[in-house]
Amino acid sequence: MKRTFPSLPLCLLTFLLLSQQCTGIRWLVLSQTTQHINKTQHCKTLPGLVSSQALLCRSNLELMQTIIQAAREVKKVCQKTFADMRWNCSSIDASKFLPDLERGTRESAFVYALSAATISHTIARACTSGDLRLCSCGPIAGEIPEPGYRWGGCADNLHYGLLMGSKFSDAPMKMKKKSGSNANKLMHLHNSEVGRQALRDALVMKCKCHGVSGSCSIRTCWRGLQDLKDIAMDLKTKYLSATKVVHRPMGTRKQLVPKDIDIRPVRENELVYLQSSPDYCTKNDKLGSFGTQDRQCNKTSSGSDSCDLMCCGRGHNPYSERVVERCHCKYHWCCYVTCKKCERTVEKYVCK
Ligand SMILES: *[C@@H]1O[C@H](CO)[C@@H](O)[C@H](O)[C@H]1NC(C)=O
Ligand SMILES: *[C@@H]1O[C@H](CO)[C@@H](O)[C@H](O)[C@H]1NC(C)=O
Ligand SMILES: *[C@@H]1O[C@H](CO)[C@@H](O)[C@H](O)[C@H]1NC(C)=O
Repeated sequence: MKRTFPSLPLCLLTFLLLSQQCTGIRWLVLSQTTQHINKTQHCKTLPGLVSSQALLCRSNLELMQTIIQAAREVKKVCQKTFADMRWNCSSIDASKFLPDLERGTRESAFVYALSAATISHTIARACTSGDLRLCSCGPIAGEIPEPGYRWGGCADNLHYGLLMGSKFSDAPMKMKKKSGSNANKLMHLHNSEVGRQALRDALVMKCKCHGVSGSCSIRTCWRGLQDLKDIAMDLKTKYLSATKVVHRPMGTRKQLVPKDIDIRPVRENELVYLQSSPDYCTKNDKLGSFGTQDRQCNKTSSGSDSCDLMCCGRGHNPYSERVVERCHCKYHWCCYVTCKKCERTVEKYVCK
């Protein structure tokens, strides 16, 4: 029998065939781009952009270069933050995104929040370092600092970062086309906003000491963003306590509301998800699970990287690794240090 799908939107059809379209974070594939973007024609060659993102690229090439850098950061920070978990963010790496980032799971909630925070963080920092001509330092804080402190330096331009970052990263969810389900879009937008809120909370006072021979009698201070790895840890905590929601009529339209708990609206600072995740113990391409076979585990840990939890009870195999270290270091007058090289064997473990 011949089958055709004339009524399926193209995007959905491609989704079924390749399971990689229709996602709001397709732009993360930019992490693999090596091209330097300095001509408008380059925008056409970039993968993963929806039309309004491509438009933004053409109108602001410098910004696009910063966004490519942000995509690399997302990948790096996500994998570092989840190195001790069964799900280790490797789906970001797979150039065809694995389905776990499509289905509205807890993991996709984290990736959307981290992506939104990272893109705005990277833009805000690029303003400060002078990489972007259309923005500069953020505003000096209004309030008067304590005695011994004064405002100075260059504040991270969080305002511009949030403005341009959300314009770019929310674009796929704000498209009018019928791509993806409405519930998923609401979920992604909510989690992106949670990420940006975590970024706002990470704007802290940073100071530098001045004064005679480091006496620190005067401090120059500015508002600076904490490092991304700290923001990612904050979002990981939110990931661990994320709330499952359903798409349900509330008043005049459908909204996301917590599934099990008492009737309350979704909180601004909580990550939400629609689909339960697999346990990520065994390999299952369909569910986006790599499985944990051959993953390294920690025999003395009692956390998520312990051999018990990481290997899902399957047990583990030991192997030994030779490590070379500096040892027996001696200080010689004046002024150098000599060391010997020592070799030792360490036991390591991988999951069966
Ligand atoms: C664009 O970037 C490439 C690669 O860095 C460089 O060789 C080229 O000169 C640049 N072109 C312009 C117009 O700046
Ligand atoms: C994540 O886990 C997979 C599957 O076990 C492994 O192949 C991959 O190297 C890991 N990635 C990172 C970044 O640790
Ligand atoms: C294993 O876990 C213990 C306890 O949490 C920690 O002190 C140690 O550094 C870990 N070892 C490795 C190789 O990560």
